[in-house]
Amino acid sequence: MLTPYILIDEAKVRSNIEKMQKVADNKELQLRPHIKTHKMPYLAKLQQEYGASGITVAKLSEAQVMLANGIKNIFLAYPIVTKEKAELIKDINEQADTFIVGVDSLIGAKTLNAGMTGADKKLKVRIEIDSGLNRTGVTKDKAVSLAKEIVQLENLELEGIFTFKGAVYKGESTLDLEKSGEEEGSLMVGLKRELAENGIDIASVSVGSSPTAKTAANVQGVTEIRPGTYIFNDAMQVKFGLCDIDDCAARVFATVVGKYDDHLVIDGGSKTFATDVQPGHAPLNLKGFGIVVGHSNLTFARMNEEHGVLEFNGDCDLEIGDVVEIIPNHICSTVNLHNDVYLKTLDGEIKKEKVAARGHLY
Ligand SMILES: Cc1ncc(COP(=O)(O)O)c(C=O)c1O
Repeated sequence: MLTPYILIDEAKVRSNIEKMQKVADNKELQLRPHIKTHKMPYLAKLQQEYGASGITVAKLSEAQVMLANGIKNIFLAYPIVTKEKAELIKDINEQADTFIVGVDSLIGAKTLNAGMTGADKKLKVRIEIDSGLNRTGVTKDKAVSLAKEIVQLENLELEGIFTFKGAVYKGESTLDLEKSGEEEGSLMVGLKRELAENGIDIASVSVGSSPTAKTAANVQGVTEIRPGTYIFNDAMQVKFGLCDIDDCAARVFATVVGKYDDHLVIDGGSKTFATDVQPGHAPLNLKGFGIVVGHSNLTFARMNEEHGVLEFNGDCDLEIGDVVEIIPNHICSTVNLHNDVYLKTLDGEIKKEKVAARGHLY
């Protein structure tokens, strides 16, 4: 196989899927994994085989790819605000068994409502709540008034509320996943209660990321968790203590193309490895851009487009032509850089698999 490439270990994937499915099953919750991590219908179907109720996507075009591959229960957890996209949403809604779209503004809701004119069935929507990440989502105090407006729109059905914040507590990054998950779940369950007091009943309270799925699932009243990264894991999940290095199912293999006094150069840089999760930032303070498996003396210190620099102190037993195995800091945005990945199947066969929704960004 020609480096650099990603190799995925199916046995580890299955074990990761099974563990998260148990988290949901133990609490009788739906698991709706975010497929932005792998972008592959094959793995989305595997997650459903193990019991996932459906999938979450970030992009309209990811929903189209998954639907075209037979996945019919999809939550698009992203605000849609243009007429052109709302018209495409109408088509997906007709073809899917269940299709739900995120909304966090009245403009967005009205755009979706107009796009659904003449449709056979209503479009289910969930209001996105900002639970501390300060990204999209309305704050809790604005949610009831938005909900009251949405329920007036004839082509929409307010199905639920959702939030994403990851490892954040009281608005700050944290390593305390107990507190973070508890805060997330409680805020959302409290909001469901408040909506009910205002005469608005919703079915779903959807929360959770890979770091907080387990702890948010403990909050009574949560109905769904949406982790994504857990299927592969990465250097961030290892540092959070959520998994061991051995549980990381997707690794990048690269060849040493140069050896110098204090560093090696490998044949993969920022076009091979994601750079969005930088080393040395609190609270994780990751060492380098990934874990060089079996070589704790190497630090993946920097990258150019096609060069990765692995620094060492003292001796290094790797030579030009050797292949290294790296667990990237962030596997989701790393996978999105690759057209294909290799999959090591349960019987040890190596199969090439297309990352079908890779680069599908609208
Ligand atoms: C809306 C939403 N839900 C779920 C997830 C999954 O979180 P994680 O990748 O930590 O598993 C994300 C991740 O970005 C997200 O944006």
